[in-house]
Amino acid sequence: MNKKERRAKEKNKKKYRTAIPKEMGYTLNRKKLKLNKPESNALNIVIDFSYYDLMTEQELSKGLKQLQRCYAINRRSVNPVNLHATSFNDYLSQKLVQSANHLKWDVKFSENHFKDIFPVSDVIYLTSDSENEIHDVVSSNIYIIGGLVDHNRNKKHCYEQCKIMNINHGKLPIDKYLSIKKTKVLTIDHVFNILLTYHNCSNWLETFQKIIPKRKEAIPIIGDVKNENKFNDENE
Ligand SMILES: C[S@@+](CC[C@H](N)C(=O)[O-])C[C@H]1O[C@@H](n2cnc3c(N)ncnc32)[C@H](O)[C@@H]1O
Repeated sequence: MNKKERRAKEKNKKKYRTAIPKEMGYTLNRKKLKLNKPESNALNIVIDFSYYDLMTEQELSKGLKQLQRCYAINRRSVNPVNLHATSFNDYLSQKLVQSANHLKWDVKFSENHFKDIFPVSDVIYLTSDSENEIHDVVSSNIYIIGGLVDHNRNKKHCYEQCKIMNINHGKLPIDKYLSIKKTKVLTIDHVFNILLTYHNCSNWLETFQKIIPKRKEAIPIIGDVKNENKFNDENE
């Protein structure tokens, strides 16, 4: 390869690196997206790590990777939210430092329980076991996602904790928009992405179609009719 060809290749590479993924619908380039900071009145989403001792080492490591994904999704969002990780103790910090320089992340880490940080009356704990469906995602509420990766070994754990703590809970309105045979228990980062995306577009079906993985074999319900093959396979 001669000098001219090398330069052209470099130029192309740079163009590719800064290109905006069209399917993400962004109007800013990657560099500017990285500079996006949540506004003071932005939505608050919390990952609750108080159940860390219920996880195996491997599950914990998956949970921390999912937190890392939430951070990455948020920093690339046009309207980032305030992302919190609560009950995040020294043990968890050490685990995370081993895999990533998390202290520089735009995540508000706290050793405190979310109940000691936010007014309990504003909290909505997300749990697929709740009998309540959430209809909207609004900045006046604090949305809590359980930082628990357990392959559903601890069925209903978060739901039962909500009952004990007497706090509001809700599930995503999946049944209203999708016919889905597989489990409706999603990963932490998918739930985070759904809240963030819905908060920006106010359309549940569009949000679910973008984020729920194809392997879930979900079929959109339009009216009362199932609408075949409308799912995104980019989330696999
Ligand atoms: C892998 S799940 C943990 C499952 C765990 N057995 C439990 O008791 O919740 C991680 C978290 O994602 C959230 N989540 C997952 N699927 C959800 C759904 N369909 N609706 C609402 N929240 C959901 C919940 O906050 C849940 O605690």
